[in-house]
Amino acid sequence: MDPAAAAAALFRSTFAAEPAAVAVAPGRVNLIGEHTDYNGLPVLPFAIGQSTAVAVAPSEAPLLEAVSREFPVPARLPLDAGPAACAEPWHRYLAAAAAVLGPRLPGRGARIAVASDLPAASGLSSSSALTVALLLALDAAFGLGLGRAELAGLAAQAERLAGAETGGMDQQVIAFAEAGALLRIDFLPPAMRAVPVPAGWAFVVASSGQPAPKGGGARDAYNERVVATRIAAALLADMLGAEIEGTPLLGHVAAIDAAPVLVDELPARSSARKAAATAGVPLERLVTLAAGTFDPDAQLPVRGYARHVLAEAERVDLACAAVEAGDLAALGELMAASHASLRDDYRCSTPALDALVKAMTKAGAAGARLTGAGFGGFAIAVCERGREQAVIDAAVAAAGGPAFEVAPSAGARLA
Ligand code: GLA
Repeated sequence: MDPAAAAAALFRSTFAAEPAAVAVAPGRVNLIGEHTDYNGLPVLPFAIGQSTAVAVAPSEAPLLEAVSREFPVPARLPLDAGPAACAEPWHRYLAAAAAVLGPRLPGRGARIAVASDLPAASGLSSSSALTVALLLALDAAFGLGLGRAELAGLAAQAERLAGAETGGMDQQVIAFAEAGALLRIDFLPPAMRAVPVPAGWAFVVASSGQPAPKGGGARDAYNERVVATRIAAALLADMLGAEIEGTPLLGHVAAIDAAPVLVDELPARSSARKAAATAGVPLERLVTLAAGTFDPDAQLPVRGYARHVLAEAERVDLACAAVEAGDLAALGELMAASHASLRDDYRCSTPALDALVKAMTKAGAAGARLTGAGFGGFAIAVCERGREQAVIDAAVAAAGGPAFEVAPSAGARLA
Protein backbone atom coordinates (compact mmCIF):
# COMPACT_ATOMS: atom_id res chain seq x y z
CA MET A 1 0.00 0.00 0.00
CA ASP A 2 1.38 3.44 -0.84
CA PRO A 3 2.24 5.66 2.14
CA ALA A 4 -0.77 8.01 1.77
CA ALA A 5 -3.30 5.15 1.70
CA ALA A 6 -1.42 3.35 4.48
CA ALA A 7 -1.36 6.43 6.74
CA ALA A 8 -5.09 7.03 6.21
CA ALA A 9 -5.89 3.35 6.87
CA LEU A 10 -3.72 3.33 10.01
CA PHE A 11 -5.47 6.49 11.20
CA ARG A 12 -8.92 4.89 10.77
CA SER A 13 -7.97 1.63 12.45
CA THR A 14 -6.26 3.39 15.40
CA PHE A 15 -8.62 6.28 16.11
CA ALA A 16 -11.90 4.94 14.62
CA ALA A 17 -12.35 8.24 12.73
CA GLU A 18 -11.54 9.87 9.39
CA PRO A 19 -8.39 12.02 9.13
CA ALA A 20 -9.02 15.71 8.39
CA ALA A 21 -5.94 15.90 6.15
CA VAL A 22 -3.30 13.60 4.67
CA ALA A 23 0.00 15.08 3.50
CA VAL A 24 2.78 13.36 1.58
CA ALA A 25 6.40 14.55 1.56
CA PRO A 26 9.16 12.90 -0.49
CA GLY A 27 12.68 12.04 0.57
CA ARG A 28 15.54 13.74 -1.22
CA VAL A 29 18.91 12.96 -2.69
CA ASN A 30 21.60 15.59 -2.94
CA LEU A 31 23.36 15.34 -6.31
CA ILE A 32 26.18 17.70 -5.27
CA GLY A 33 26.81 20.55 -2.83
CA GLU A 34 27.40 18.70 0.43
CA HIS A 35 27.80 20.54 3.74
CA THR A 36 27.46 23.84 1.94
CA ASP A 37 23.88 24.82 2.91
CA TYR A 38 24.59 25.79 6.53
CA ASN A 39 27.43 27.90 5.18
CA GLY A 40 25.01 29.87 3.01
CA LEU A 41 26.42 28.24 -0.14
CA PRO A 42 24.47 26.47 -2.92
CA VAL A 43 23.21 22.90 -3.23
CA LEU A 44 21.76 20.81 -6.08
CA PRO A 45 19.36 18.19 -4.68
CA PHE A 46 16.19 16.54 -6.01
CA ALA A 47 13.14 14.95 -4.43
CA ILE A 48 12.61 11.21 -4.98
CA GLY A 49 9.52 9.02 -5.43
CA GLN A 50 9.76 7.43 -1.97
CA SER A 51 7.90 9.41 0.68
CA THR A 52 6.42 9.75 4.15
CA ALA A 53 2.69 10.35 4.60
CA VAL A 54 1.01 11.84 7.65
CA ALA A 55 -2.74 11.65 8.36
CA VAL A 56 -3.99 14.14 10.94
CA ALA A 57 -7.16 15.26 12.72
CA PRO A 58 -7.40 17.97 15.39
CA SER A 59 -8.37 16.86 18.89
CA GLU A 60 -9.53 18.80 21.95
CA ALA A 61 -6.86 17.46 24.32
CA PRO A 62 -3.54 19.39 24.33
CA LEU A 63 -1.69 16.25 23.22
CA LEU A 64 -0.07 14.76 20.16
CA GLU A 65 -1.19 11.14 19.93
CA ALA A 66 0.70 9.44 17.13
CA VAL A 67 1.21 6.00 15.65
CA SER A 68 3.51 4.88 12.85
CA ARG A 69 3.49 1.89 10.55
CA GLU A 70 7.31 1.76 10.72
CA PHE A 71 8.11 2.76 14.32
CA PRO A 72 6.65 0.45 16.97
CA VAL A 73 6.40 2.83 19.95
CA PRO A 74 3.34 5.13 19.75
CA ALA A 75 3.57 8.71 21.05
CA ARG A 76 1.41 10.53 23.58
CA LEU A 77 3.09 13.89 24.07
CA PRO A 78 1.94 17.12 25.71
CA LEU A 79 2.10 19.96 23.15
CA ASP A 80 4.87 21.60 25.15
CA ALA A 81 6.89 18.39 25.71
CA GLY A 82 9.90 19.68 23.74
CA PRO A 83 12.12 17.34 21.72
CA ALA A 84 14.80 16.93 24.40
CA ALA A 85 12.32 15.14 26.68
CA CYS A 86 11.59 12.39 24.12
CA ALA A 87 13.45 9.10 24.39
CA GLU A 88 12.11 7.74 21.08
CA PRO A 89 13.91 9.46 18.17
CA TRP A 90 10.80 9.76 15.98
CA HIS A 91 8.85 11.40 18.83
CA ARG A 92 11.40 14.22 18.84
CA TYR A 93 10.25 15.36 15.41
CA LEU A 94 6.62 15.44 16.57
CA ALA A 95 7.53 17.46 19.65
CA ALA A 96 9.72 19.78 17.58
CA ALA A 97 6.90 20.43 15.10
CA ALA A 98 4.55 21.30 17.98
CA ALA A 99 7.26 23.59 19.43
CA VAL A 100 7.72 25.60 16.22
CA LEU A 101 3.97 25.93 15.67
CA GLY A 102 3.61 27.03 19.31
CA PRO A 103 0.83 29.62 19.63
CA ARG A 104 -0.55 28.71 16.20
CA LEU A 105 -2.07 25.60 17.86
CA PRO A 106 -4.09 27.34 20.58
CA GLY A 107 -3.96 24.55 23.14
CA ARG A 108 -5.38 22.00 20.73
CA GLY A 109 -3.66 18.75 19.96
CA ALA A 110 -3.89 16.27 17.14
CA ARG A 111 -4.19 12.59 16.35
CA ILE A 112 -1.55 11.50 13.86
CA ALA A 113 -0.79 8.39 11.81
CA VAL A 114 2.45 8.03 9.84
CA ALA A 115 3.50 5.63 7.07
CA SER A 116 6.67 5.76 4.98
CA ASP A 117 8.51 3.85 2.31
CA LEU A 118 11.73 5.81 2.91
CA PRO A 119 14.55 3.97 4.66
CA ALA A 120 15.16 5.69 8.03
CA ALA A 121 18.60 7.03 9.09
CA SER A 122 19.77 6.65 5.50
CA GLY A 123 20.78 10.15 4.41
CA LEU A 124 17.64 10.28 2.21
CA SER A 125 16.03 12.78 4.61
CA SER A 126 13.35 10.63 6.16
CA SER A 127 13.37 13.01 9.14
CA SER A 128 12.76 16.07 6.96
CA ALA A 129 10.04 14.23 5.02
CA LEU A 130 8.31 13.44 8.32
CA THR A 131 8.64 17.01 9.56
CA VAL A 132 7.43 18.64 6.32
CA ALA A 133 4.52 16.19 5.91
CA LEU A 134 3.50 16.73 9.53
CA LEU A 135 3.55 20.54 9.24
CA LEU A 136 1.68 20.42 5.92
CA ALA A 137 -1.00 18.11 7.36
CA LEU A 138 -1.36 20.23 10.53
CA ASP A 139 -1.52 23.37 8.38
CA ALA A 140 -4.41 21.89 6.37
CA ALA A 141 -6.20 20.32 9.36
CA PHE A 142 -6.08 23.51 11.49
CA GLY A 143 -6.40 25.98 8.58
CA LEU A 144 -3.17 27.74 9.61
CA GLY A 145 -2.56 29.30 6.20
CA LEU A 146 1.20 28.73 6.15
CA GLY A 147 2.95 29.61 2.90
CA ARG A 148 5.35 27.05 1.40
CA ALA A 149 8.48 29.05 2.22
CA GLU A 150 7.28 29.63 5.77
CA LEU A 151 6.52 25.91 6.12
CA ALA A 152 10.01 24.94 4.87
CA GLY A 153 11.56 27.44 7.28
CA LEU A 154 9.56 26.12 10.25
CA ALA A 155 10.49 22.54 9.32
CA ALA A 156 14.20 23.45 9.31
CA GLN A 157 13.82 25.19 12.67
CA ALA A 158 12.05 22.10 14.07
CA GLU A 159 14.88 19.83 12.97
CA ARG A 160 17.44 22.07 14.64
CA LEU A 161 15.45 21.86 17.88
CA ALA A 162 15.54 18.08 17.45
CA GLY A 163 19.34 18.19 17.68
CA ALA A 164 21.35 18.64 14.47
CA GLU A 165 22.11 22.26 13.49
CA THR A 166 21.16 21.61 9.86
CA GLY A 167 20.91 23.99 6.94
CA GLY A 168 17.72 24.42 4.94
CA MET A 169 18.40 22.21 1.90
CA ASP A 170 16.28 19.18 2.78
CA GLN A 171 13.12 21.00 3.81
CA GLN A 172 13.32 23.41 0.87
CA VAL A 173 13.76 20.77 -1.83
CA ILE A 174 11.02 18.64 -0.23
CA ALA A 175 8.68 21.64 -0.28
CA PHE A 176 9.54 23.00 -3.74
CA ALA A 177 10.85 20.19 -6.00
CA GLU A 178 9.47 19.73 -9.52
CA ALA A 179 9.21 16.36 -11.28
CA GLY A 180 12.00 15.72 -13.79
CA ALA A 181 14.30 18.42 -12.41
CA LEU A 182 17.02 19.09 -9.88
CA LEU A 183 16.54 22.13 -7.68
CA ARG A 184 19.45 24.52 -7.35
CA ILE A 185 19.03 26.35 -4.07
CA ASP A 186 20.98 29.46 -3.08
CA PHE A 187 20.84 30.93 0.42
CA LEU A 188 22.80 34.23 0.31
CA PRO A 189 20.63 35.76 -1.11
CA PRO A 190 17.82 33.14 -1.21
CA ALA A 191 16.95 31.84 -4.69
CA MET A 192 15.75 28.63 -6.33
CA ARG A 193 15.97 27.35 -9.91
CA ALA A 194 14.74 24.07 -11.42
CA VAL A 195 17.43 22.38 -13.53
CA PRO A 196 15.83 19.78 -15.86
CA VAL A 197 17.61 16.43 -16.12
CA PRO A 198 18.53 15.05 -19.59
CA ALA A 199 16.27 12.15 -20.60
CA GLY A 200 19.05 9.59 -21.08
CA TRP A 201 20.42 9.76 -17.53
CA ALA A 202 19.57 7.49 -14.59
CA PHE A 203 20.23 7.94 -10.87
CA VAL A 204 20.88 5.08 -8.45
CA VAL A 205 21.08 5.29 -4.67
CA ALA A 206 22.61 2.59 -2.51
CA SER A 207 23.00 1.94 1.19
CA SER A 208 26.46 1.60 2.70
CA GLY A 209 24.95 -0.79 5.23
CA GLN A 210 25.65 1.65 8.06
CA PRO A 211 22.85 3.82 9.48
CA ALA A 212 23.51 7.58 9.86
CA PRO A 213 20.84 8.96 12.19
CA LYS A 214 20.91 12.76 12.00
CA GLY A 215 19.21 13.03 15.37
CA GLY A 216 21.41 10.30 16.91
CA GLY A 217 25.00 9.18 16.49
CA ALA A 218 25.82 11.47 13.55
CA ARG A 219 24.56 14.59 15.36
CA ASP A 220 27.73 15.51 17.25
CA ALA A 221 29.97 14.95 14.24
CA TYR A 222 27.61 17.12 12.16
CA ASN A 223 27.47 19.95 14.71
CA GLU A 224 31.27 19.90 15.02
CA ARG A 225 31.48 20.78 11.33
CA VAL A 226 28.90 23.55 11.66
CA VAL A 227 30.94 25.19 14.42
CA ALA A 228 34.31 24.56 12.73
CA THR A 229 33.18 26.24 9.50
CA ARG A 230 31.86 29.23 11.49
CA ILE A 231 35.34 29.46 13.05
CA ALA A 232 36.94 29.33 9.60
CA ALA A 233 34.57 32.03 8.33
CA ALA A 234 35.37 34.31 11.27
CA LEU A 235 39.13 33.87 10.80
CA LEU A 236 38.96 34.37 7.02
CA ALA A 237 36.81 37.49 7.41
CA ASP A 238 39.39 38.83 9.86
CA MET A 239 42.25 38.12 7.41
CA LEU A 240 40.29 39.76 4.57
CA GLY A 241 39.17 42.74 6.63
CA ALA A 242 35.50 41.86 5.91
CA GLU A 243 32.75 42.75 8.39
CA ILE A 244 30.17 40.04 9.10
CA GLU A 245 27.00 40.70 11.06
CA GLY A 246 25.61 37.79 13.05
CA THR A 247 26.80 34.20 12.69
CA PRO A 248 29.90 34.03 10.44
CA LEU A 249 29.38 31.72 7.43
CA LEU A 250 31.82 30.77 4.69
CA GLY A 251 29.18 32.09 2.26
CA HIS A 252 29.92 35.58 3.57
CA VAL A 253 33.50 35.42 2.29
CA ALA A 254 33.33 32.89 -0.56
CA ALA A 255 32.86 35.50 -3.28
CA ILE A 256 36.00 37.43 -2.26
CA ASP A 257 38.72 36.43 -4.76
CA ALA A 258 41.44 35.95 -2.17
CA ALA A 259 39.36 33.64 0.06
CA PRO A 260 40.26 30.28 -1.57
CA VAL A 261 43.96 31.23 -1.42
CA LEU A 262 43.82 32.36 2.20
CA VAL A 263 42.23 29.06 3.25
CA ASP A 264 45.73 27.58 3.23
CA GLU A 265 46.78 30.22 5.77
CA LEU A 266 44.14 29.11 8.27
CA PRO A 267 45.43 27.22 11.31
CA ALA A 268 45.15 23.45 10.79
CA ARG A 269 43.23 23.28 14.09
CA SER A 270 41.59 25.89 16.28
CA SER A 271 39.07 26.14 19.10
CA ALA A 272 36.11 28.50 18.99
CA ARG A 273 37.47 30.36 22.03
CA LYS A 274 40.83 31.03 20.38
CA ALA A 275 39.24 32.04 17.05
CA ALA A 276 36.77 34.39 18.75
CA ALA A 277 39.63 36.17 20.49
CA THR A 278 41.77 36.38 17.32
CA ALA A 279 38.93 37.59 15.07
CA GLY A 280 37.26 39.81 17.68
CA VAL A 281 33.95 37.97 17.35
CA PRO A 282 31.64 37.25 20.32
CA LEU A 283 32.21 33.59 21.28
CA GLU A 284 28.49 32.80 21.42
CA ARG A 285 28.15 33.52 17.69
CA LEU A 286 30.43 30.56 17.04
CA VAL A 287 29.16 28.01 19.57
CA THR A 288 25.43 28.68 19.98
CA LEU A 289 23.21 25.96 18.51
CA ALA A 290 19.41 25.71 18.55
CA ALA A 291 19.67 22.68 20.85
CA GLY A 292 22.55 23.71 23.13
CA THR A 293 26.09 25.07 23.14
CA PHE A 294 29.12 23.47 21.47
CA ASP A 295 32.30 22.98 23.53
CA PRO A 296 34.25 26.26 23.01
CA ASP A 297 37.57 24.56 23.77
CA ALA A 298 37.33 21.62 21.35
CA GLN A 299 40.21 21.72 18.85
CA LEU A 300 38.69 21.40 15.37
CA PRO A 301 40.40 20.86 11.98
CA VAL A 302 39.16 24.10 10.48
CA ARG A 303 41.49 24.38 7.47
CA GLY A 304 40.50 21.10 5.82
CA TYR A 305 36.82 21.68 6.50
CA ALA A 306 36.91 25.18 4.96
CA ARG A 307 38.84 23.93 1.92
CA HIS A 308 36.10 21.38 1.24
CA VAL A 309 33.22 23.83 1.59
CA LEU A 310 34.68 26.52 -0.69
CA ALA A 311 35.68 24.01 -3.39
CA GLU A 312 32.31 22.22 -3.14
CA ALA A 313 30.43 25.47 -3.75
CA GLU A 314 32.36 25.95 -6.99
CA ARG A 315 31.55 22.38 -7.99
CA VAL A 316 27.83 23.17 -7.66
CA ASP A 317 28.16 25.94 -10.27
CA LEU A 318 30.11 23.63 -12.58
CA ALA A 319 27.64 20.77 -12.04
CA CYS A 320 24.68 22.98 -12.97
CA ALA A 321 26.48 23.90 -16.17
CA ALA A 322 27.29 20.23 -16.88
CA VAL A 323 23.65 19.17 -16.41
CA GLU A 324 22.44 22.03 -18.61
CA ALA A 325 24.98 21.07 -21.30
CA GLY A 326 24.04 17.37 -21.04
CA ASP A 327 27.70 16.59 -20.22
CA LEU A 328 27.50 13.40 -18.17
CA ALA A 329 31.26 12.83 -18.08
CA ALA A 330 31.88 16.30 -16.64
CA LEU A 331 29.20 15.79 -13.99
CA GLY A 332 30.72 12.40 -13.10
CA GLU A 333 34.16 13.95 -12.56
CA LEU A 334 32.70 16.62 -10.30
CA MET A 335 30.92 13.95 -8.24
CA ALA A 336 34.15 11.98 -7.89
CA ALA A 337 35.98 15.14 -6.77
CA SER A 338 33.20 15.89 -4.29
CA HIS A 339 33.48 12.45 -2.74
CA ALA A 340 37.27 12.68 -2.47
CA SER A 341 36.97 16.06 -0.78
CA LEU A 342 34.31 14.79 1.65
CA ARG A 343 36.54 11.81 2.44
CA ASP A 344 39.89 13.60 2.80
CA ASP A 345 39.07 17.18 3.86
CA TYR A 346 35.61 16.94 5.42
CA ARG A 347 36.25 13.52 6.99
CA CYS A 348 32.62 12.44 6.82
CA SER A 349 32.94 9.36 4.61
CA THR A 350 33.44 5.80 5.87
CA PRO A 351 35.36 2.84 4.40
CA ALA A 352 31.99 1.27 3.47
CA LEU A 353 30.89 4.42 1.58
CA ASP A 354 34.29 4.61 -0.17
CA ALA A 355 34.04 0.97 -1.27
CA LEU A 356 30.46 1.49 -2.46
CA VAL A 357 31.37 4.57 -4.53
CA LYS A 358 34.30 2.68 -6.07
CA ALA A 359 32.15 -0.34 -6.94
CA MET A 360 29.41 1.74 -8.59
CA THR A 361 31.98 3.70 -10.61
CA LYS A 362 33.68 0.49 -11.75
CA ALA A 363 30.29 -0.90 -12.82
CA GLY A 364 29.77 1.94 -15.27
CA ALA A 365 28.51 4.93 -13.30
CA ALA A 366 29.81 8.22 -14.71
CA GLY A 367 30.20 9.41 -11.12
CA ALA A 368 29.28 8.48 -7.56
CA ARG A 369 29.56 10.06 -4.13
CA LEU A 370 28.14 9.90 -0.64
CA THR A 371 24.90 11.85 -0.34
CA GLY A 372 23.55 13.72 2.68
CA ALA A 373 25.55 14.28 5.84
CA GLY A 374 27.69 11.12 5.49
CA PHE A 375 29.08 9.16 8.48
CA GLY A 376 27.25 6.17 6.92
CA GLY A 377 23.98 6.26 5.03
CA PHE A 378 23.62 6.23 1.24
CA ALA A 379 25.64 7.02 -1.87
CA ILE A 380 24.30 8.31 -5.20
CA ALA A 381 25.51 7.40 -8.68
CA VAL A 382 24.61 8.81 -12.10
CA CYS A 383 24.87 6.75 -15.27
CA GLU A 384 23.59 6.47 -18.82
CA ARG A 385 20.13 4.92 -18.95
CA GLY A 386 20.60 1.20 -19.59
CA ARG A 387 23.50 0.86 -17.15
CA GLU A 388 21.47 1.32 -13.97
CA GLN A 389 20.96 -2.40 -13.30
CA ALA A 390 24.70 -3.08 -13.49
CA VAL A 391 25.31 -0.23 -11.03
CA ILE A 392 22.60 -1.54 -8.69
CA ASP A 393 24.04 -5.08 -8.81
CA ALA A 394 27.54 -3.81 -8.06
CA ALA A 395 26.24 -1.75 -5.12
CA VAL A 396 24.42 -4.72 -3.62
CA ALA A 397 27.50 -6.92 -4.09
CA ALA A 398 29.73 -4.29 -2.41
CA ALA A 399 27.56 -3.26 0.55
CA GLY A 400 24.54 -5.57 0.74
CA GLY A 401 21.89 -3.08 -0.43
CA PRO A 402 19.27 -1.87 -0.61
CA ALA A 403 20.09 -0.14 -3.92
CA PHE A 404 17.50 1.23 -6.33
CA GLU A 405 16.86 3.75 -9.08
CA VAL A 406 15.44 7.12 -8.06
CA ALA A 407 13.74 9.64 -10.33
CA PRO A 408 13.53 13.40 -9.73
CA SER A 409 9.98 13.81 -8.39
CA ALA A 410 7.54 16.49 -7.26
CA GLY A 411 7.65 17.98 -3.77
CA ALA A 412 5.23 17.71 -0.85
CA ARG A 413 1.47 17.73 -1.45
CA LEU A 414 -1.86 17.06 0.19
CA ALA A 415 -3.23 13.64 -0.78
C1 GLA B 1 22.00 16.90 6.22
C2 GLA B 1 21.37 18.23 6.58
C3 GLA B 1 21.41 19.19 5.40
C4 GLA B 1 22.82 19.28 4.81
C5 GLA B 1 23.43 17.88 4.59
C6 GLA B 1 24.86 17.95 4.18
O1 GLA B 1 21.23 16.25 5.26
O2 GLA B 1 20.04 18.05 6.98
O3 GLA B 1 20.94 20.45 5.80
O4 GLA B 1 23.65 20.05 5.62
O5 GLA B 1 23.32 17.09 5.75
O6 GLA B 1 24.99 18.56 2.94
